[in-house]
Amino acid sequence: PRIVVLISGRGRNLEAIHQAIERGELNAKIVLVASNKTRAPGLGYARLAGLPTVAIAPRAFADRESYDTALARRVAAARPDWVVLAGFMRVLSDAFIAPFAGRIVNIHPSLLPKYKGLHTHARALAAGDTHHGASVHLVIPALDEGPVVRQGRIRITADDTEQTLADRVLDRIERPLYAAALADLFEARVTAGDDGALYRDGNR
Ligand code: GRF
Repeated sequence: PRIVVLISGRGRNLEAIHQAIERGELNAKIVLVASNKTRAPGLGYARLAGLPTVAIAPRAFADRESYDTALARRVAAARPDWVVLAGFMRVLSDAFIAPFAGRIVNIHPSLLPKYKGLHTHARALAAGDTHHGASVHLVIPALDEGPVVRQGRIRITADDTEQTLADRVLDRIERPLYAAALADLFEARVTAGDDGALYRDGNR
C-alpha cells in the first residue's frame, strides 16, 4: 500500500518504518513525508532517503480547520492508502480525519487508555507505575482514543528518568512495534468492524 507519513520532529518512527520497508519486512511504499514543521529533522532523513517531502506551516493559516483542510488536500494528492502519524505533534480535527476515515494510524508513547495526551513518560514515573510502553491505534477525532492495534510494554526501573524511559520506549518498543502493527493492518490480520472495533485474524 501507498503510505503518507506525518512527522513533527526527529522522525525516529519514520526511520524505523522506512528501514522495515527497505529490509522487506513491511510491504508498503512511502509516497510522501509531510510535516507541520519546516525544519523538522526527520525531513532531512526523508530527503536523504530520496522520499518526497512537504512542510506546511500552520502560521500561514487563519485557523485549525483551514490548516487541516489544506494538509488533507496535499496528503490526498499523494493518493495514500494509509496515513501514518509518526511523532506528529499536532491535534488533527475532523477536517483532516474525515477524508481518510479508518485509514489513519498513530503511535502514542503510553499503554493506552492510560496517559492520553502529552508528557506520558513523566506521568508514568510520577504515578510509580512498574510498566510503561507504546500503543499503535487507529485515529478518530477524540485524541488518542481510537482502537488499539498493538501495544508493547517494558518495565520501569528505579533509576529511570523521563529521558531514559522515553529513549528506551522509543528504541525498544516503538521502533519494532510500528512496523509490526502496520503489517497487521496492511495484511488485514486486523480489520475494523462496522462497530469501529478491531478484530484480529477475522474472528468477529
Ligand atoms: C515518539 O515517542 C512518538 O511516540 C511521539 O513522539 C516521539 C518522537 O517521535 N508521538 P519521532 O522521534 O519524531 O519519531
